[in-house]
Amino acid sequence: MINIQSLKNRRKKLAQLIDFPIILWSGKAPSRNFRANHYPFRANSHFLYFAGLPLENSAIRLENGNLDLFMDNPHPDSTLWHGETPRREDIALQIGADNEYPMKDLKEQIEGVATVPVQDTFTYQKQREILQRSLCFDEQSEDIDDQLMKAIITLRLVHDEMALTEIKKAVKISVKAHTIAIKSTKKCVTEAQVRAAMESYIMSQNMTCAYNSIVTVNGEVLHNETYNNPLKLGDLLLADVGAETALGWASDITRTWPVNGHFSSSQRDIYDVVLAAHDACIEATKPGVEYREIHLLAAKIMAEGLVNLGILKGDPDTLVEKDAHAIFFPHGIGHLLGLDVHDMEDLGDLAGYQEGRTRSDRFGLKYLRLDRPLKAGMVVTIEPGFYQVPAILNHPKFQEKYYNDVNWDKLKQFSDVRGIRIEDDILVTETGAEILTQNLPTQADEIEEMMS
Ligand code: GLY
Ligand code: MN
Repeated sequence: MINIQSLKNRRKKLAQLIDFPIILWSGKAPSRNFRANHYPFRANSHFLYFAGLPLENSAIRLENGNLDLFMDNPHPDSTLWHGETPRREDIALQIGADNEYPMKDLKEQIEGVATVPVQDTFTYQKQREILQRSLCFDEQSEDIDDQLMKAIITLRLVHDEMALTEIKKAVKISVKAHTIAIKSTKKCVTEAQVRAAMESYIMSQNMTCAYNSIVTVNGEVLHNETYNNPLKLGDLLLADVGAETALGWASDITRTWPVNGHFSSSQRDIYDVVLAAHDACIEATKPGVEYREIHLLAAKIMAEGLVNLGILKGDPDTLVEKDAHAIFFPHGIGHLLGLDVHDMEDLGDLAGYQEGRTRSDRFGLKYLRLDRPLKAGMVVTIEPGFYQVPAILNHPKFQEKYYNDVNWDKLKQFSDVRGIRIEDDILVTETGAEILTQNLPTQADEIEEMMS
């Protein structure tokens, strides 16, 4: 639900951080084969944060906490194709706008305004045309666009009640979608059918997906977006699927389960190592803790577990120092979650990385998307995984570097584990952490029970 007071608070808080006007554009869906056949529209997240509603082809101007809405009323002919749609004055009331104007007036209000570039090229060109300047951002620079981005990050890093209510709504639907998928897998014969079961439930709740679903027996392909494989007894199925509310707030959940309802002993062994890392990381999540340390904790527990299974050899701390764990856990432990699934990644690492910090080029750290001390009100994912990625395991550079750290013969006993990831959405609270996705089981026994 839109909450005008929350929106006004966001606008006021922004005015406390910057002393110049800004314009944010919502964007426009590109056309496909003809002008009126569009790709799905998704409003720009910075626009959504302050405007509240996904209004296509609109802009807002914010100054001193006030919001002016710029959008055109529908053309009279459009009722034939689209029916009656809300008029600008109704929308202005709904979002608590102080004034409302047609789009053509926007160019008279550009003096000294900052903005954030949007993703769609049509609107991006419009932004440049109207503001009559280029729009690149540079982390070192301090022009008004950069100051605006930093101010928006300060606000969006820590969620208010309206945001949390929305994220929890998205989470609830995602939990149910995963539950449906786990329970119906035995009746499905392809990945596509499991995906359909999940997305059809999300759609039935008038939500969309916050990102392209990953539903695959090839869990080692981190962002697999094909669904054509048959489900074979003995396969593990990895589903990374998250709903997004009508107001644009995301959720992001991954579970991995056996197609036939029972983990083999090798699958269960690795699953439990990933789960141990997942549980320890959530346990460690609290204000003040460095997210990078949580990532390194996952690395350590993965290394310990893999040493215990005989897959890695040596001292876990030393293995982590040389990034040997990253052969099997090559990505970061998670990311910020909010209006975007990787929240604010349109700003590069400006949101994910504390000022003054940059990405490491270490194999075990370079895909870490968040490197900040945690604060109450942040929502982050915790998503350790184990993968047998051919591009890593067969690469001469890695084979040579880690020749003595991996028991390559032992690894062959785990050939039925291609990819396992367990991902939950975590709210950092004043005292620790709340697992927003806790209604979806993680224990192997619980998952087998759900499938029986
Ligand atoms: N849900 C996909 C990802 O976090 O990258
Ligand atoms: Mn994620």
